[in-house]
Amino acid sequence: METQAATQSLAETSTENAKQRFIRKTRELFAKETDLDKRWNALRPILAELLADPDMITASKQWPDCVPANGRAENLLFYEDPDYGFAINGLTKGQARQGVAARIHDHAHIYTLYGVLDGRERVVRYDRMDDRSKPNYAQIKESANVLCGPGEIDLVKPYEIHTELTVGERTVAVIIRSQKGGDFNQGRYNLETNEYFESLGPRQTPCEMMPK
Ligand SMILES: [Fe+2]
Repeated sequence: METQAATQSLAETSTENAKQRFIRKTRELFAKETDLDKRWNALRPILAELLADPDMITASKQWPDCVPANGRAENLLFYEDPDYGFAINGLTKGQARQGVAARIHDHAHIYTLYGVLDGRERVVRYDRMDDRSKPNYAQIKESANVLCGPGEIDLVKPYEIHTELTVGERTVAVIIRSQKGGDFNQGRYNLETNEYFESLGPRQTPCEMMPK
């Protein structure tokens, strides 16, 4: 009986594609790990496996370019989990995004794993320097500046300030968020003027992640 169950389980997992495997493993992790920092660090190797999948990489060549409009970025929405609420996004930056300054921002209260799938881009991090007592004001200072390539993963914890800059190449990222973006305000920062304001996150455009 045990052998039969094991065989059946093996058969089920062998027909999974990379997206289905990622969702299954993520749900298993979320069920057992409730400490959020530990959970999101433990998700790194599961996302790394997804980023390395040849079928996923092939499928990503067909993903449409994301186009910012009306002051909002665009994310491709591949999946939103009905129980745990996490979302899988794609972010493609094509020709139109090259040389365009990306805004410095945070992701408000959510956790995010940002995984580069194709191309290279520069991830810049900032520290908040002021005491947050003045409205519409934030003093920030660059704390890290790293060129990231395929397979590299950046964990963005709640309210961490950052931006991703294109370096003249088409880039594709797979982003895992603890909650689908777009329905809540995120912080926006201006390094030169110290202006701070909040606005809605990226528009969510449903898209097929990979062929069945
Ligand atoms: Fe971001």
